Parts: sequence; structure tokens; C-alpha cells
Amino acid sequence: MDKVSEIEKLREEIRYHNHRYYSLDNPEISDAAYDRLFKRLLDLEQQHPELTTPESPTEKVGARPQETFSEVKHRLPMLSLENSFSDQDVRDFDARVRRFLGNDSPVGYTVEPKMDGLAVELVYENGALTVASTRGDGLTGENVTRNIKTILTVPLTLTQKKNALPPPDLLEVRGEVYMDLEAFEKLNHERVRRDLPPFANPRNAAAGSLRQLDPKITARRPLNMFCYGIGMISELSCDTHHELMTLLQQWGLRVNRPYIRICNTLTEVIDYCRHLEEIRAQFFFEIDGAVIKVNRLDLQARLGQKSRSPRWSMAFKFKPTQETTTIIRIDVQVGRTGALTPVAHLKPVELSGVIVRRATLHNQEEIDKKDIREGDLVIVQRAGDVIPEVVKAIKSKRTGREQRFVMPSRCPVCGSGVVKREGEVVVRCPNPNCPAQVRESFKHFVSKSAMNIDGLGDKIIAQLMRKGLIGEEADLYGLGLDDLLKLDKIKEKSATNLLRAIENSKKTTLARFIYALGIRHVGEYVAAILADHFGDIARLGKATEEELIAIDGIGPQIAESINAYFEDHHNRDHIKRLIQTGIELEAPSLPPASPAAGKTFVITGTFSSMKRSEAKEVITRNGGRMASSVGGNTDYLIVGESPGSKLRKAKDLGVPILSEDEFLRLLAEAHE
Ligand code: IVH
Repeated sequence: MDKVSEIEKLREEIRYHNHRYYSLDNPEISDAAYDRLFKRLLDLEQQHPELTTPESPTEKVGARPQETFSEVKHRLPMLSLENSFSDQDVRDFDARVRRFLGNDSPVGYTVEPKMDGLAVELVYENGALTVASTRGDGLTGENVTRNIKTILTVPLTLTQKKNALPPPDLLEVRGEVYMDLEAFEKLNHERVRRDLPPFANPRNAAAGSLRQLDPKITARRPLNMFCYGIGMISELSCDTHHELMTLLQQWGLRVNRPYIRICNTLTEVIDYCRHLEEIRAQFFFEIDGAVIKVNRLDLQARLGQKSRSPRWSMAFKFKPTQETTTIIRIDVQVGRTGALTPVAHLKPVELSGVIVRRATLHNQEEIDKKDIREGDLVIVQRAGDVIPEVVKAIKSKRTGREQRFVMPSRCPVCGSGVVKREGEVVVRCPNPNCPAQVRESFKHFVSKSAMNIDGLGDKIIAQLMRKGLIGEEADLYGLGLDDLLKLDKIKEKSATNLLRAIENSKKTTLARFIYALGIRHVGEYVAAILADHFGDIARLGKATEEELIAIDGIGPQIAESINAYFEDHHNRDHIKRLIQTGIELEAPSLPPASPAAGKTFVITGTFSSMKRSEAKEVITRNGGRMASSVGGNTDYLIVGESPGSKLRKAKDLGVPILSEDEFLRLLAEAHE
């Protein structure tokens, strides 16, 4: 294809995808695939400057506003950001900034998380919120004032704090409206249940929710907003972006301040971008990159902007967690608990830096509701440490050759008829001796977070089982050198190492041991709570359901499962045999080396960066506890905005007091 037609074709394609993304909130390709198209067009236009035109999508922002909303003209255009994908891109950006400023000395930057939602502008006149609008095409957006007002963290009036600057007469604040991951999952679940198509990602869900003609619908969708910049302002009373963010916060606006970092060197910039990428799974919302900004506002003004983006800022895009690929075939995997899971075999794709070949389809109901078929072009995602999953099928790309999938009625490994428990969607193989279940239990038992037997991989387990050398976990501890030497591809040295690893695993913690048992719903964290609470396995075995539920972090479902496990005498015998092999269980210790681990926190006042329920979740995730009142056993009181009487009490009792920032820093320490 000649360059002229390729460029035109790319522009058409990008316009089409812009429309699906910005106007319909229903994209057809992954962000990564879109970024590639866009980059290809940018490259071609750079090579052929004579072919550039102001009509090209590379010169434009977003899409025309939807006609059903009234229009709002932005006083200053709302721009987009240029993307960078590598350290070198960031270095080039810095070089461009300094060249433009005619500056040899380093320029100071700030780096902050790039929230994945939709850009919104709030206009405050004499302190009152008058208009809120979407970005639209950058010049004109949609009037979403009534909808924005349903977001609880968006103040209707700005506040003035004692000893702080008053808010200016006119303030245009810009920020990102997004949906928490938890709310997103819930919403999608609900949609699938009601036969509505799920949203591809939290951003589409947020956009779809904000752009509802009926604000009552918006109000039911838990949206939130972080402010990250300004448009027009009547009076600018600070010198840097960082100070500006502090001011916004003082005026009552929600800012992700604990994560906005000043970086004075390029290395700091790159390191912090990478750090944010590493901890991205810890956020309650999706972040798809970091935003680098020149910190000094006067320098920002000198740098100015290009048609689509400012020269003083750049987005550092993280490795994509979503991609488009094809399902080659679907088959079924049998898990440790006998659950049959349909698994999609994919044309390999790279997701957050890892090549992915398989993705879970969860269960038949999900497959049916989402109408996913063999041969479909699909969006797959891998978020944090979770297993890659198929998000949705791109039905517009169907050829007619795609095949529907139906779960088998027999276990594909042992042939037992599958069963479905009441109230559950998963089907299970009921045979506890099913080789697949046994093998999966072994894999779990020896895994890193459980008994941590290094070198005992899937293949060796399968061979040991096949040769009848192991039937249950305790048998591992009876293996001798001659047993291992019977296996293929095992030499004396690796056999000796493996035996040593097995022997070493006998000295372990109670928490690991409990986790290794593979009790349903007892993950690493719950195992640690149980170990901490009971101190030995016999006491845990005797605990009643009531006793278990009374423990912070243990709900009725977990309690019931633990009880059922210990009621079964096979399981009790299994534990006995394991202990008889000489396993020694060390005194309990909580797993995460977080400064919050084992500590009791109490909260007073409101936080700017998270809700109370979110704070509770971070605390528990870090191994701490949250209590409702200050007492002798309180380790920290965390003080937010407008604290209550707990503050007085904590002071009286001499309980250490943390500000919200200090609290976040304390948690961050664990991850640095
Ligand atoms: S600053 C001139 N800061 O990313 C544009 N944007 O891809 C200044 N975004 O349109 C934007 N988090 O919607 C900025 N911390 C952050 C952001 C952020 C998310 C969005 C914003 C922007 C888009 C560009």
C-alpha cells in the first residue's frame, strides 16, 4: 500500500475507534492495540510532514460531544498527553524540554499516577460549583453538572481553611472521574446477571455511568474523582504544580497527594514511574501509567502546548494489562477442589510484560452470558497477580466459523459424572481420588507460599504419582534417594537437592502449614490470621463456627468451610500423618513484613484519598486490624479531616497519632 492510502486508512480506523471509545464507551480493541495504530500514524506523519493535516486524529483530542447533553465551551482547551513507553522516551522528553527552555541544568518534575477514567472540568465561581463538563473534543464538552454533583467527594462549595489561602473567585479544576475496581466488578456482575453486556474496563464503566441522561442512574454508580490540574484561574498564588495540588486539597478538592512525588533528577523520574508500575495492583482503582510534569508553573507557561498536548507533561504508559487476541480452542481444567474451569487457549500475547497463552473463562454461565466462542477475537486481561481472563468477545469481527462451547458432563481426567452444588455456578468432579485433583493438591502443598519445596515441579509430581511413589502429601517425606533415581531425567545431584528441600520444608510456620492444607477459602492471609489466633493446629481443629466468626477477618463462609474440613475424619487423619513425618510448626508470625502487621488502628475524621472501607481493607491487607474505638490496645489513631472525640481520648491515653499522609507513608514503607 502506498503511504498516502495507508495514512488515510489509519486515520479512518482511528476515527472509528475514537467514536467507539469516547462516544459509545464501548471500545472494540484494547488500548494497547489503539496505541499501536496511533503510533504508526504518528511515525508516518513524521516521515511525511507534507501529508499532515489539522483533520488528522493526531491533531485532535477525543471526540465530538454527544448531542443529547448540552454543550459547554472550555475557556481553555482540555488537552491530551503524549505517551511514552520506555525510559528512552522519557529521556527524549526531558531533552526536548531543556532544549526548548534553552536550559542546560536539570528541570524539576513531579510524577504522579495516571488514573484511567475520563477527564472532567469543574468550574467554581465565588467558591460554588457552577458547571461540570467532560473533555469532549477538547474545546467543547458535555454538560454533566447534575451527574457530577452526585459524586460525594466532589465539593459543591470550596472550603477555606484557617491560615490557608482563600479559594480564587474563578477556579477551573480538572481531574479524572473513575470507578473503583470493586465497584466495577460488582456493576459488571450485576449487568451480566441482567443479560446486559459487561463494560470492558472500569474506565468505560465510569464514562458510561457519568454520561447518563438520568442523574439518578449516575448516583447509583459509585464514581469518584481525583483532581490533577487546573484550567482558568482568576488568581494564581503558588509557584509549582506540587504547591497547587496542596492548595486544591486545602480548598476541599480530592487530590491523590501522597503519590505525587517531586523528582529532581531524570533517574528519580524513571525510578518513580517504575515504582508506580510495580505497585499498581495495590491501588483501588486502575492506573494505566504515570504522568510526568514540569513542576515550576512559570516553566510550564513558557513551554506552552502543541495542538493536542502540552510540552511540559508526558504520560509514561505502563505495560498493557489488556490485549486483543484470538481463542484457538477452549478446554477444561480440573482444580484442587475438583472445580472444572473452562480455559481458553490463546494466540500468545504479551500482557504486563508476560507472554500469555491461556486465560480463564470462569464457568459456563460466564461463557453463555458473555457469548464467548472458540475462534473469537477477544479482549483478554491480566491485572496484578490474578490469572489472565477473557473479558469479552468482539462480536463485530465474527466470521461465522466460531464454535459455541459446552462444559462436559464427565470429568475429563477421571471420567466421573460432574456435580453442581446448590447455589453454585461451578461444576465439580466429585471424586477426591481424581488424579487431577490429587496432582493439584500436591502442587499447592509444595508451592512457595505453602511448604515451599523448591525443585518439586509439576512434571516430577506427575511422575511420582504415576509410579505410585506418592499418593498423599505425607508420602513426600518418606521418599528416598533410590525412589527419586527411578524418575526420568533426574541425576543423583538434583535428587539429593530435592530430598534436602523436602527435609528442610519440615521446619515451617503454622501459617504456612494451614495454608498448605488447602482448606477452601483459606488463603495465605486467612491462614496467617488463624495461626496468629490459635497458635496450634489442634486448637484450630476444635474451634466452633461461632468462635471462628468472632475473629476479625473471618466471615461465615470461611468459618463454615474450616469447620467442615475438620469434621471430616479423613482430613484429621491426613494432618496426623503429616505431623508424624516430623513436621515442626514454628510459633505463629504474620506474613507481610508490613509495619502495619499486627497493629490495631482506629480512624477518626474523613480521608481525602480513600473511604473508610478502603482504609480498613488496606490495613487488613497489610496484616493490621481496624477497631472502632480508642482503647488501651490501640497502636495508632489515624486522623483525617474534622476528627471527632477519639482524638482527645487518644491524646489522653498517649496513643501515637498519624496524619493521613503519615499513614500512607507507613504502608508504603512495606513495599519499598
Ligand atoms: S494531566 C494537558 N494528570 O490522562 C493534560 N492527566 O492521556 C493534562 N489523566 O486527559 C493532564 N491522570 O484525563 C494528568 N495525574 C494525571 C492524570 C491525567 C489521568 C488523564 C487525563 C488526560 C489523559 C491523557
